[in-house]
Amino acid sequence: MNHNEATAEKTEIMNIDRIRELIATDMDNVDELIEKSLYSEINLIDQLGHHIINSGGKRLRPAIVLLSARAFSYEGEQHINLAAIIEFIHTATLLHDDVVDASLLRRGRETANQRWGNEASVLVGDFLYSRAFQMMVNAESMRIMHILSEATNTIAEGEVQQLINRQDPDTTQENYLKVIRHKTAKLFEAAAQLGAVISDRSEKEIAAMAAYGRHLGTAFQLIDDVLDYSSSTEELGKNIGDDLAEGKPTLPLLYAMWNGNEEQTKLIRDAIEHGGLEHLEQIKEAVNSTGAIAYTAKIANEEAELAINELKGLPTSEYLDALYALARFSVERQF
Ligand code: IPE
Ligand code: IPE
Ligand code: MG
Ligand code: MG
Repeated sequence: MNHNEATAEKTEIMNIDRIRELIATDMDNVDELIEKSLYSEINLIDQLGHHIINSGGKRLRPAIVLLSARAFSYEGEQHINLAAIIEFIHTATLLHDDVVDASLLRRGRETANQRWGNEASVLVGDFLYSRAFQMMVNAESMRIMHILSEATNTIAEGEVQQLINRQDPDTTQENYLKVIRHKTAKLFEAAAQLGAVISDRSEKEIAAMAAYGRHLGTAFQLIDDVLDYSSSTEELGKNIGDDLAEGKPTLPLLYAMWNGNEEQTKLIRDAIEHGGLEHLEQIKEAVNSTGAIAYTAKIANEEAELAINELKGLPTSEYLDALYALARFSVERQF
């Protein structure tokens, strides 16, 4: 067994609590900056912003920024700012996404669109995006601006492409993967890459971290799409079946349609074309019995492996171990 294999094995037992502990002080500082940066004299922004930000998201993307910076022994303060920026961008996309997906539950609470309406959610999402850009300017780095502006733009493209695919049962696996690389993986890519950029690492290491984030983010979204058919509302804090309700052609659903019997294929094709939860139970059954969950999870696992491979050769540390563990968490998670 070479050293890298030993490291990978050891990290399988690093749990989420240990990861949180490693970056606890940094994350407290991120939360403090988030709180400060949410400030607006407009009451609705303050209320809605706090509703979503304080509702207990996993803070996975800022954790990746912090771990990436610490893995390269970063000593400055910019990682806190960048982690907060990434969480703001993530939160803005969630506010917009819940409007587009007509979702009613997020993080175990009613969504902002459910409580304050679509208009307010879209506009406060814009506030968070633009606040993130103000914070980016503080970093005074064209490289950072470049990475984050490109990420934000790519996410928007992914969401629009997904809108185009909606209710289209002929969406291909390739097209689906392109959507998730854009709408989700790109922000993970930026998060992981930035830690290396602010630590002035080599272009090779920066590229390795970017690829790590991209693969991890792809795995993460594949599992998110699995959980929409296999988890429970309580566990997820989101309503199960949101994807089906909107006729969203995610991989678990497409695979079940491709591999089901005649009746299942027709049922799923209809469900994608028209949306709605009328046949949720039957469709969940088809997703299970055709092996669609296992197939999607297999691709997610392959992505997680690719993410892990990118870390080999980087300086070993507990922070790097935590990055290994997060790649595993992204596929093993139940929430
Ligand atoms: C939700 O992301 C959006 C997706 C990309 C699937 P998370 O599952 O990281 O959401 P929070 O921040 O923990 O609520
Ligand atoms: C992820 O897609 C949303 C973004 C990356 C903006 P989903 O629509 O699957 O996310 P959830 O399930 O609503 O969190
Ligand atoms: Mg959604
Ligand atoms: Mg989802």
